[in-house]
Amino acid sequence: MTETDRILTLRKELERHNYNYYVKNAPEISDREFDDMMHELIDLEQRHPEMADPNSPTSRVGSDLTEDFEQVAHRYPMLSLGNTYNRDDVRAFYERVAQGLGGEPFDICMELKFDGLGISLWYEDGQLVRALTRGDGVRGDDVTANVRTIRSIPLVVPQETGRPASFEIRGEILMPWKSFEALNQQREAREEPLFANPRNAASGTLKSKDSRVVSQRRLDAYLYYLLGDGAVGDSHYANLQLARTWGFKISESMKLGHSLQDVFDFIDYWDTERRSLPVATDGIVLKVDSLRQQRQLGFTAKSPRWAIAYKFQAERALTRLREVTFQVGRTGAVTPVANMDPVLLAGTIVKRASLHNADIIRQLDLRLGDMVYVEKAGEIIPQIVGVDTESRGMMLGPEVTFATHCPECGTPLVRYEGEAAHYCPNYTACPPQLKGRIEHYISRDAMNIDSLGPETVDEYFERGLIRDASDLYRIRVADICGVDRSREKSARKIVDAIEASKKMSFDRVVFGLGIRFVGKVAAKMLAAQFKSMTALRNATLEQLLQVEGIGEKIAQSVLQYFADERNVALIERLAEAGVNMEMEQVETTSDRLAGKSIVISGTFEQHSREEYKQIIEMHGGKNVSSISQKTSFILAGENMGPSKLEKAQKLGIAIVSEESFLQMIED
Ligand code: IVH
Repeated sequence: MTETDRILTLRKELERHNYNYYVKNAPEISDREFDDMMHELIDLEQRHPEMADPNSPTSRVGSDLTEDFEQVAHRYPMLSLGNTYNRDDVRAFYERVAQGLGGEPFDICMELKFDGLGISLWYEDGQLVRALTRGDGVRGDDVTANVRTIRSIPLVVPQETGRPASFEIRGEILMPWKSFEALNQQREAREEPLFANPRNAASGTLKSKDSRVVSQRRLDAYLYYLLGDGAVGDSHYANLQLARTWGFKISESMKLGHSLQDVFDFIDYWDTERRSLPVATDGIVLKVDSLRQQRQLGFTAKSPRWAIAYKFQAERALTRLREVTFQVGRTGAVTPVANMDPVLLAGTIVKRASLHNADIIRQLDLRLGDMVYVEKAGEIIPQIVGVDTESRGMMLGPEVTFATHCPECGTPLVRYEGEAAHYCPNYTACPPQLKGRIEHYISRDAMNIDSLGPETVDEYFERGLIRDASDLYRIRVADICGVDRSREKSARKIVDAIEASKKMSFDRVVFGLGIRFVGKVAAKMLAAQFKSMTALRNATLEQLLQVEGIGEKIAQSVLQYFADERNVALIERLAEAGVNMEMEQVETTSDRLAGKSIVISGTFEQHSREEYKQIIEMHGGKNVSSISQKTSFILAGENMGPSKLEKAQKLGIAIVSEESFLQMIED
């Protein structure tokens, strides 16, 4: 097989596996094998620029070359739906339809209303050529490069599926709950503003200028509307079932209803059942199923007469706003917090809600004493969504304004260009910042000094024992055992735990410094790359940017951190105290594999893959992920992937069994 043939085969295979994984939820190969094939394709495409194809599966990883979004006219306007919140409106809709059709029988296609953002996808000759957001309904933003990274959207629909040559399909782009929660956790750890709900997160993500970000955020898409030549038969429902066979993700919850009772049953069922879905839904969409009947009913200026959306009531409570306080985090970011009369909401008592930032406070036009509506955004974080202005009466409470000075240390707050948050700039003396940094240093993912908690840190801080992490190492049992020595045992435990933390791995130390935006993963990457604090401290922007997973924002933050002498002084004090400032050397037990590039494939009996990786390194070899001419041999276990086998044979690369490999390093 020539390399260009191989490219075509790999593209087809990868798309098939992608579909099995993301649409059917039934993968046939391991993630590792998938990655290997992807790497092989990336290599080959680099060698054959003439084979470039925007719809190659390699485009799913994204690039930072995403241009500004061009505005493009929709072929058919993207209308929205009439909304209702009650059953009477649903009944009225049903009766209007019956009347409009002159008493002719009709079916209703009942669907979930997905809470994301609408998207229009154009396919020509089975190739995805354009993805547009709704925009103003007439023109949308061309977000094709970003949409290509969404794994459940087919880039190519093969002719064998029987799809029409060209068609448009519309649907909803969503961020699944799981991705949303992970994203917000990550943002919280970096003290970045949280997304209020998956819809905002999906929308923010899709408008990102860097499609690699989109690729990492794991969006999903459900399709629910075929237009133009895509509408093959007369039944909307049947057409969507057909589109499923073309490779699109069509919701399994869709159903045909034959009566108003069917519609109410569907609503009742999903009103509770939707909570167990992996994505957010905010209602039900009802559509007359027959396209002929749809045409007969037609459109109003804004929306079709043949469809309507019934919205679920979001769980919401009304309570009184008592006070707004301001919290200062370890980076100095100031978060406004609403303190309210306790109220029951979706099963828990809520009395505090984040107000996010000054802009949001202004938008709400909040007054102290207002009755406010509280919702659980994305059903997680309570949030004030509005004010019941009617209950205000004659007396308006004082306006809620953002603090001008730090509530903890009195320093005037600052707001940086382009950021929504206010900061207290008093890095060296603002207590919550100092305490926050120590708490971060001792936290589980950092130095893991678990016999110390926030209360103890607070106490030691108040007593003047600690101002920064290096002071921890000067604490003696006598300092903390109480005047009567009654707490001697626990004091000893704490001192021992602090002592033991000196041996923590270098990446934890890097994470523990609390450099802005440097999370656990970034810290690991930086530690592995630079191997010592001195090297990390001297790293240039270019060197930082070369590290996998480190972008401009993190790199700049690292530079800024080390440019501050106070941080450098802290690191020196930590080093003096004996904290580990270097990556542990992997002990080379031999150089038997020196200079060898080894690919691992399949499953093993004696050791895990991870262990084999380490063994290879211990003997001076290098583990690489894809096979090329430079590969020395393949360490092959059971069930080595067929594509790898073929490639190895083609390039004449030796395949070494687990047993022979172990012998090789023992001799
Ligand atoms: S059909 C002309 N079906 O809700 C009909 N829309 O205002 C086009 N949506 O903008 C829309 N789930 O973004 C349809 N199953 C579904 C939907 C759905 C969510 C969104 C869509 C639309 C809005 C309705």
